[in-house]
Amino acid sequence: MTDIITIRRPDDWHLHLRDGDMMRSVLPFTARQFARAIVMPNVSPPVTDVQKTIAYRERILDAVPEGMDFTPLMTCYLTDTTDPDDVARGHAEGVFTAAKLYPAHATTGSAHGVTDISAIYPVLEKMQAIAMPLLIHGEVTDSHVDIFDRESVFIERTLSKLVCDFPALKIVFEHITTRNAADFVMTGPDTLAATITPQHLHINRNAIFAGGIRPHMYCLPIAKREEHRLRLREVAVSGSPKFFLGTDSAPHTVGAKESACGCAGIFGAPYAIESYAAVFEEENALDRFQAFASENGPRFYGLPLNEATITLRRQSHRVEEILEVAGEKIVPFHAGEAIGWRLILE
Ligand code: DOR
Ligand code: ZN
Repeated sequence: MTDIITIRRPDDWHLHLRDGDMMRSVLPFTARQFARAIVMPNVSPPVTDVQKTIAYRERILDAVPEGMDFTPLMTCYLTDTTDPDDVARGHAEGVFTAAKLYPAHATTGSAHGVTDISAIYPVLEKMQAIAMPLLIHGEVTDSHVDIFDRESVFIERTLSKLVCDFPALKIVFEHITTRNAADFVMTGPDTLAATITPQHLHINRNAIFAGGIRPHMYCLPIAKREEHRLRLREVAVSGSPKFFLGTDSAPHTVGAKESACGCAGIFGAPYAIESYAAVFEEENALDRFQAFASENGPRFYGLPLNEATITLRRQSHRVEEILEVAGEKIVPFHAGEAIGWRLILE
């Protein structure tokens, strides 16, 4: 039995850092594990152009603690009125690594998102031409569609057509939660990949209702049935280069979660790499852990692999019930549970 895992330093290909005090407080949790992260632009107000993104990146870089090596990879928040030339300029100048499509009102911070995908076709044409990846929150926003079906219906109504209309556009189907999404990506073209969160590998929808309503298990897309979780595990550990790590860590205060209308989002950053390691061990796939965590992502994005390594030791430890973050309380993913691996910091 292996007691030590050493892998190339991983990256987080989907992260919410927020802004201000919250960002400064949550950033170290990520930077101690990950060399780079794709930073989501759904802050308030959203980062929708080159200027705002440069300023946001500066605030993040200023918050990286002494001695930690961390690079934020920025994304452009697409709206109905995004200027294709601004996107292309931001990409050429190394400001935007990718652009994020939120269907309007699909999730937290998506109110300025895209109301009709045809509105951004000129932007997508440009992105295809310059090989800039499109990151998609893949859920329909039609309130008549059952919340557990919104991802599958998005594939049928929107994503299938998008993949056909833009055969050379690199697309990351973010935080997939269903067998349907896993199969769609697995059988799709090489230009199509997906991120998978730790929570969707660990929990099914029962966790949201175990003995009462559990707001800290609520995120979007919402966790689905057990059969979907099992299929996500299969593809994550399959060795396919189309699937890679993206935590979707999304901090909300206890007050915002434990409310009559609690926010969507799970704060998975603190023990993210340990959480994924537990999945790969349970699936007898530790030999494929490095590919998922540290290689498939950069290869898809066309970025260099990290040269540094990290080491995890087999050591059971209990995750804090609550963390004090920016003077607020946040419940992390796995709160109160034991995790069998621990990141060793040099
Ligand atoms: O659960 C989620 N929380 N899903 C998202 O898509 C957004 C995120 C957030 O920003 O809180
Ligand atoms: Zn997200």
